This record gives sequence, C-alpha cells and structure tokens, in this order.
Amino acid sequence: MQHDMPQVEPMVDASVNAHAWNHIAAQDLGQNVGTVPEGIEWTCWPGRGPGSEFLGDLAGLRVAELGCGTGEHIAYAAAHGARLAVGVDVAEQRIAQARARFDHLPALLWRVGDAAQELAELPRLDVCFSIYGALWYADPTQLLPVIHNRLRPDGLLAFSVNGPRTGELSGRRVDNLTLDSGVRLPVVHYSYDADAWRHLLDEHGFTDSEVLAVQAPEASPYRTLVLRARRSGD
Ligand SMILES: C[S@@+](CC[C@H](N)C(=O)[O-])C[C@H]1O[C@@H](n2cnc3c(N)ncnc32)[C@H](O)[C@@H]1O
Repeated sequence: MQHDMPQVEPMVDASVNAHAWNHIAAQDLGQNVGTVPEGIEWTCWPGRGPGSEFLGDLAGLRVAELGCGTGEHIAYAAAHGARLAVGVDVAEQRIAQARARFDHLPALLWRVGDAAQELAELPRLDVCFSIYGALWYADPTQLLPVIHNRLRPDGLLAFSVNGPRTGELSGRRVDNLTLDSGVRLPVVHYSYDADAWRHLLDEHGFTDSEVLAVQAPEASPYRTLVLRARRSGD
C-alpha cells in the first residue's frame, strides 16, 4: 500500500467537514428527545453487523467517541455505566443537538473540534470508538498516533467506515453530499479496504485487529467495514 500521498493540512479537511455537518444539523431538527438507543448499530443498516457486544461491558470505563454527531452512541456508553463518556465532533451544531438530547445523563462531556486535536487534551482512555465518524473523515495517519497515545495499553479501538467502491482508488477523497434542498456540500473522507486498514493499524502500534465486512442489504456499491484492535503494550 502507498503511504506517500501528498500531505494535506488536517485542519483543511476538518473545516470542510465542519461546514457540511453544521449545514446538515440545521436541516436535521426535532431530534431533541433524549431516548438512549437500546444498542449500538455499527452500520446504517439496522440489524446488520455487530451490536453493543463489539465494545463489551463499558461499566467503569473511560470512553470517547470521535465524530459523535447527535450523540446517541456515546449516550449509550454513559447510560451503561461508563465512568467518563466524551463525545467529540468537529461540527458545533451537531454537539449542540447532542447536548440538547443527552445532557441529563451522568459522566457525559462534549468537545467541539477536530478529533485529533481534542483527543490530545483528554485523559487516558480505556475505549475509543467511532461510527462512520472521524476515522472515516480524517486522515488516519494523523489520527491513529493520537489515539495510540491516549488509549491505555491494551485499550480498545473500534470503528466503522465505508470501504472503497469497486474500482475506486483508496486514500483521501472529496465527494459531494446532496441535501433534500438540492444544495451540494463537499465532504472529505478517507477510504481504505480491509487489508489497508489492517496494515495501518499494525503500522501505528495496534494489535489483534479484526475486520468485519458488512454488505449493504440491496444491490448497492456500498460495503461497511467494522474494525476493532487493541493498543499494543508499552
Ligand atoms: C456520518 S456522521 C456520523 C455521526 C454518528 N457517529 C452517527 O453514527 O450517527 C459523521 C460525523 O463525523 C463528524 N466529523 C467529521 N470529521 C471530523 C473530525 N475531523 N473530527 C471530529 N468529528 C468529525 C461530522 O461532523 C459528523 O457529525
């Protein structure tokens, strides 16, 4: 796999994506009911892919979600006994929605900003996870070292991302999200297949990596990869 792609200033990606997701938040109103989901869905196809067991028992643990959106998954962690549950998102408006929904829960903290920058300020964590979040939208060669630094030895990293579609090049991509209004917003994401992810995780000090490939229900070019690995010991 190639790692000699041109270096892109990470804050450029973060501000492009913050613009898009703040716009989406402004259209995505009416989510202020604080119902915690019954489980964690790792794909956008309910019931497909693993569930909450993929993270294991969170009671007493320090947990962060990178790219938490409106917060339901990190709220699940808080509601299931996490000692600390931090939701990080680059879009201020998404965090405002998350606060409105879940601020009544114990142990929850919210951070607005790029995952790598915010994570660097957090205490040591037991679990770091992301569901179509920062591990998909930010350069993993910048983010994985920070996650490695913040996770305790043997701590768990779990995340889901879409893999490249057939024939699509891997690496940094810019796509357009089209809103119902017809407005098109650029988003930056990073796309790798299962082998490339295993290699990236290995290269950045993670062990025991597992990759589950979950196919979209209908004929669709999309495939979600659900991954988990442990931070190597010191
Ligand atoms: C597809 S949404 C997923 C939200 C949530 N995880 C869920 O499953 O509903 C992607 C989220 O990642 C956030 N995001 C994108 N780039 C980020 C970055 N560099 N740091 C933190 N959050 C980021 C976006 O603002 C957006 O809320």
